[in-house]
Amino acid sequence: MAITNGSSDADILGRADANDVDSILLLTNTEVNETIATVQNNADTIFTWDYEKGARPRLNKLYEKAKGAMWDGEKDLDWSTDVDLDLMVEQMAIVGEVQNKPMYELAEVPGSPLANFGDKEWHELGRESLVWQLSQFMHGEQGALIATAKIVETVPWIDAKYYASTQVMDEARHVEVFAKYLDTKLEGHYPINPHLRDLLDDVIGDSRWDMTYLGMQIMIEGLALAAFGFLHMLTEEPLLKKLLRYVMSDEARHVAFGVLSLQEYYQELSLAEIRERQEFAFEAAVRMRDRFLRQEVWHRMGVDDIRPIIRAQLDAPPESLEFQRLLFSKIVPNLKKLGLIDAGEGWLRTKFEEINVIEFEHMQSTDEEYADFALAEDG
Ligand SMILES: [Fe+2]
Ligand SMILES: [Fe+2]
Repeated sequence: MAITNGSSDADILGRADANDVDSILLLTNTEVNETIATVQNNADTIFTWDYEKGARPRLNKLYEKAKGAMWDGEKDLDWSTDVDLDLMVEQMAIVGEVQNKPMYELAEVPGSPLANFGDKEWHELGRESLVWQLSQFMHGEQGALIATAKIVETVPWIDAKYYASTQVMDEARHVEVFAKYLDTKLEGHYPINPHLRDLLDDVIGDSRWDMTYLGMQIMIEGLALAAFGFLHMLTEEPLLKKLLRYVMSDEARHVAFGVLSLQEYYQELSLAEIRERQEFAFEAAVRMRDRFLRQEVWHRMGVDDIRPIIRAQLDAPPESLEFQRLLFSKIVPNLKKLGLIDAGEGWLRTKFEEINVIEFEHMQSTDEEYADFALAEDG
């Protein structure tokens, strides 16, 4: 996905060029051997003395649904299932074929860092990439756990505090099942990607409560909902398929929570404040793009100089970016519903036109479709 800086815009993430390889690689995880990490939370904790339940009927409805929709990963998933990672990679070969197209071309160049890659290495890359991807889902789920605990504290409305509290419980189950899958069915997990960590730090550290919603409920969870749907469709491994189906049933509600809450709040904001939200959303998109460059995977594959690989991915032709593009299918319609696409002379529309994702604007927003994701009565 070609992300460009328009000449009139401020730098993205402090970079003169959003696609500068050295700037992207400057961010590394320096805490891989640590067990805990600290983020400064700059928001005020808010009590409300207005206990009128249902003052916001759509949030109240979401809360009532959530209470009855809790599944139990220990009981509802069959953990005796044998998982074969090699078979999973083979069954999802299409993912590698599309995503790695620029790297196949690089491998043809004599002396390139991938010149020694053969079938064995490409298969190994598929294994590492899948484990890495599931690991980032797990870390993102912990980000959601912490972000929604923060929302319980910072949102001023009782219906939203009630709903967010159910989401905290949902996210705990999500972290739990991804961690159990990685550590007992696969061979352990990767540390958090530095670009995801950077995004989570911003989402959790911001002093404005709605930025936590925008970053988490709309951007990160919107991407997750599309990514889980995609993996759910492609994988034939029954345990992961069911796990994803269960997580998605919650995730759709979470995105809807963001849309319903921010829709009301954004009506009060000035154009300058809305522009800050547009920029925040676009910077989140750049960070998520940077995460998908998989820098840690290339290191683990023993590649010495990964810069040509990062460059090849940044310059990839549109057809090999199709999966990345689809990850915006749940983000763009929701940002449109919030009015962020067209506000301020369409700043974000221009950005999304440049990265080729604006066509998703006509899809249904998640507050309209979340019920379609609910689990059937028979599970
Ligand atoms: Fe989640
Ligand atoms: Fe979630």
